[in-house]
Amino acid sequence: MAERVQSEIRKKLIDAFTNNESEYLSGQKLADIAGCSRTAVWKQIEELRKEGFRFEAVRRKGYKIVSIPPDMTADKITLGLKTEKLGRNLHYHDSVESTQKIAYKLAYENAVEGTVVIAEEQTAGRGRMDRKWHSPKYTGIWMSMILRPKIPIPKAPQLTLITAVGVVQAIEAVTGLLPEIKWPNDIMINGKKITGILTELQAESDRIHSVIIGIGINVNSQEEDFPEEIRPIASSLAIETDRMIDREELIRAILEKLEKLYSLYLEKGFLPIKLMWESYAVSIGKQIIARTITGEIKGKATGITEDGVLLIEDSAGELHHIYSADIKI
Ligand code: BTN
Repeated sequence: MAERVQSEIRKKLIDAFTNNESEYLSGQKLADIAGCSRTAVWKQIEELRKEGFRFEAVRRKGYKIVSIPPDMTADKITLGLKTEKLGRNLHYHDSVESTQKIAYKLAYENAVEGTVVIAEEQTAGRGRMDRKWHSPKYTGIWMSMILRPKIPIPKAPQLTLITAVGVVQAIEAVTGLLPEIKWPNDIMINGKKITGILTELQAESDRIHSVIIGIGINVNSQEEDFPEEIRPIASSLAIETDRMIDREELIRAILEKLEKLYSLYLEKGFLPIKLMWESYAVSIGKQIIARTITGEIKGKATGITEDGVLLIEDSAGELHHIYSADIKI
């Protein structure tokens, strides 16, 4: 399993280049910023060069970043990332069974809040209700994030809804598409699923230890990348826009949007998020069928509760609270 956690020096250098994109930075300045020797700076720049970063080096002026490598790396993702917490501790893998599994282990080992695990490929990606999540190499964003909110356990599903809002906003900002949310966590474009979110909890008695939020986005997948049986219901951002999408840019946008929404939530509670979620929701106000483990409920989706529970009013006027189901519109 190939993994490289970014060294502190490397992170500081990348931040310095990010914040001064069009400027030359001298070796001494970089050494001061990274708190290391000029030799250490030079070594790191050589390492980055080997990974495909291109720098222009001018005598007496220093280094300027010219281009970044074509494949995704932790450095490329954090280049330009404007968050304080989310994604600051980034674990990037080439191939894993499931990023959820790795994040789970890291959370157990007390990884900081905001730790993110990203993989180019998952060989055993997991979806909701024990389904498989197809995650072929280089085509999507397969990531898991560790949060440690001090909220009561029953409120944890709200985090799924926050994530859905953040992902919708990020997709909109990067691609110009206008995605919709299908309760509880499917992000749809033109009636096809683009993104799934899987939220899992580590809790002790009445306290949340950590929440692992898994996000799977079909970004640059083409139709043939999907198994035949899901082709009628799944799509990707590339298919919908007819162009390749920069995955790193989208990851950064997601982390930045989510950080803002998560702070808003911790400060002001769920109401502002609920209103945003409802404005993106495709099912609210419509006749739907909810397939739960105990059977089907048909009726009009009237909204969600404070705890993210879907409300359906049936033809007899009875209100049903839906905690877990597949929704058909
Ligand atoms: C769904 O069923 O809609 C949820 C899909 C969640 C998939 C993501 S991909 C990253 C993370 N790792 C996994 O194994 N699953 C989640």
